Amino acid sequence: MTDALFTVSTPDMLDNDALFRSIHDNSYAVIRGLFSKEEMRHAVADIRHGFDAALDHPGMGDVPTDVMDNFQKLIIGTGAQTNYYVPRCLRILYNPLWADDRYGMHGIFRRLAEVRNHIQGHRPNYAVDGIEDTLWTAARLQHYPAGGGFFAPHRDAISPTNTHEAGLLKFIQILLLVTQRGEDFEHGGAYIDHHEQRIDLETTYGSGDILVYDGRSMHGVSDIDPHKLFDRQQMTGRITALVTLYTDMSGDDARYAHYRTRHYKAEP
Ligand SMILES: [Fe+2]
Repeated sequence: MTDALFTVSTPDMLDNDALFRSIHDNSYAVIRGLFSKEEMRHAVADIRHGFDAALDHPGMGDVPTDVMDNFQKLIIGTGAQTNYYVPRCLRILYNPLWADDRYGMHGIFRRLAEVRNHIQGHRPNYAVDGIEDTLWTAARLQHYPAGGGFFAPHRDAISPTNTHEAGLLKFIQILLLVTQRGEDFEHGGAYIDHHEQRIDLETTYGSGDILVYDGRSMHGVSDIDPHKLFDRQQMTGRITALVTLYTDMSGDDARYAHYRTRHYKAEP
């Protein structure tokens, strides 16, 4: 078996050829060393501090531009309304880099986006500080609540948001484990099937590790602490961070213009 663990201290140390070989041979790879467990412990505390259950929206009914601002939705159901039947229970907290940094996560999202850009062959700040080639960084948290948060086994459909990438890159998913099984929750977590075998990733990997996997392999999240009572008011259970490139469907650059003037130095 190809070694799936890549330990690096900067994103550009990552050997993409070896990474893709691992994803091909194992269905996944893990990048360690860019985020510490200590940093993730603080992040969980900050996320809990910034969390407000009153901001929940239902799992459907939002328009594409809603997620280009801080926006939170609790998704419980089969997903059948999108013609993609995969039962699930999770909360998504969109937190774009030009919106208020209410969870103290923006520094982490920016570094994770740098890793994404390295893997996808872009320069480090590509589509991080605004919209480039119609793409932007959909910085967000996924929260699988204690009391039964889960995502049933599935293969990713090709999302219209990432059709810009070719081949394997189109299916590669990158996510940061913010929480640690055994500390933040007791049971459940990410798994991926490889050659008829289900690999329980969070027995081996945990907070601060970046999971990179081929969405064409069957994968999901097994029940998070089903022995506990589900409580919508609490940010308990499992949290991951993602920075997928989404297509801008707003046609409205006013929403991030202020951000560009605040953060961008004029390019030489
Ligand atoms: Fe998926």
